[in-house]
Amino acid sequence: MLDRWVILPPLLALAYFILSRCHWRYQLYHFSKLNDCQDAPHEGSWLDCHTGVFKAITLGRNFRRKTSLDYTNQLFEKYGNTYSTKILGQNVLFTCDHANIDHILSAAFADYDSSSTRAHLFEAPAPRGIFAVDGQRWKDTRKLYRKQFSNNRLICDFDDLERHVQNFIKKVPDNGQPFDIHALFYNLGLDTTFAFTVGKPVNALSSDQTPEEKQIMEDLECVKETITRDAFIGPLRHFYDRGAFLRASQRLRNFSEASAIQAVYDAQKERNSDLKLSSGQQQPYTFVRGLSKEIDDVPLIVDQSVSALLAGVDTIAGLLSTTFFLLARNARVMQKLRASIIDNVGHERPTYDQLKQLTYMQQVFNEVLRLFPPIPFNHRTANKNTFLPRGGGLDGSSKIFVEKGVQVVFSTWASHRMSDAFGEDCDAFAPERWEKLRAHPLGFAPFSRGPRVCPGREYYLSSIYLVLASARTSFSKGVFAN
Ligand code: HEM
Repeated sequence: MLDRWVILPPLLALAYFILSRCHWRYQLYHFSKLNDCQDAPHEGSWLDCHTGVFKAITLGRNFRRKTSLDYTNQLFEKYGNTYSTKILGQNVLFTCDHANIDHILSAAFADYDSSSTRAHLFEAPAPRGIFAVDGQRWKDTRKLYRKQFSNNRLICDFDDLERHVQNFIKKVPDNGQPFDIHALFYNLGLDTTFAFTVGKPVNALSSDQTPEEKQIMEDLECVKETITRDAFIGPLRHFYDRGAFLRASQRLRNFSEASAIQAVYDAQKERNSDLKLSSGQQQPYTFVRGLSKEIDDVPLIVDQSVSALLAGVDTIAGLLSTTFFLLARNARVMQKLRASIIDNVGHERPTYDQLKQLTYMQQVFNEVLRLFPPIPFNHRTANKNTFLPRGGGLDGSSKIFVEKGVQVVFSTWASHRMSDAFGEDCDAFAPERWEKLRAHPLGFAPFSRGPRVCPGREYYLSSIYLVLASARTSFSKGVFAN
């Protein structure tokens, strides 16, 4: 016969486990009731509703086929603007409702984290970079960025941009021959962003590119692609070899480190010297030089410069090529834009103030960013029991309970295509709609919103400069002739 002292401890442990589960369930129920929450529609087959294995496979397949945007949009059409699902055992909410997106990014900012799903992605290239941290660490880092991006006139170095534009122009064929404009814009994005952040272009548009510069270009590509893939496939990433990613991350860090060491050395020398440099002697602004005036922690400067590189290249390149993609298909908009550039700037290089006054150009940009936001998806993880303001219940008007640890994926791609915010013709490219819309209509968040809004949006005027300068060439070289 079993001694009762042997079976009592496991029985007590089991009872404790059951009671604490019940208490926890009751707390969730109570929170949900107190806030009038209702369930969101559930997406997924009954077979998969506990494991979410098929869902993970379907997401992976759509990612590989580059059909993720269509796939999630179809689900929004079927289940409504907010629905819940299960991916590999994890509860996930998908939303394109502007009330929910705004709530996560602004009002309930403190209830949601980014780092729980992102820190591991950035561990090799930028472990303390702004994308990998939350809380006080993020606040301290953000302060550094705020300071750097606060002087737009200083950071938008038109002389430097013009040099890169000249390289771009040399690559545009004469007489309207066809060419891949996206590849050229990607290289322009690389050269300008590397020059702005670390102060060394990788000469992507030059015929004198060194093997080291080419390698760095490829390394950035490898790091970006791996981070994007791993963010989509979640735990399935462990099945992939990470060797190439780790080596590419290290080379990218070494490349930035050389600039960071030099910048910290120069900043210390300047601080210790009694003589202040005159403006003529000062070196042009770069992000790394700016940071070195605030901190002398070289690895931290490297973390931030690699983060800015990862954030800047694709977004700028994507914005430039989608602008031209849409202009090439809309002769009316292109003619109007061309006339407005000639009216306001003429055929010369624009000044900073002229750029700020190009209202139609701004409307074209807003419309491009609406239809093709360079970051079409984003996500956050609840760091406490909380709620979303809309999407629950039969009519979708109730709040939804969000348990601590649940991920919320939001799609600006879909929220930018809502007819209630942007009109019945919301799928059309019509920059004129911005004459009537407020500057930041609900649901429009290409640069995100709230405290974590993109700091690089201040640098955005540089993109306008690039488009304008490229447009000048394209018009004169007859790029749009066909
Ligand atoms: C058209 C150009 C750009 C677009 C549409 C864009 C969009 C965005 C978006 C949507 C976010 C929010 C990400 C999140 O919350 O998870 C973001 C964050 C960020 N962007 Fe940009 N971006 C652009 C250009 C740039 C450039 C040129 C830089 C720097 C050189 C930059 C640096 C950053 C940084 C550092 C963050 C992180 C902010 C934080 O977590 O506090 N971006 N960007």
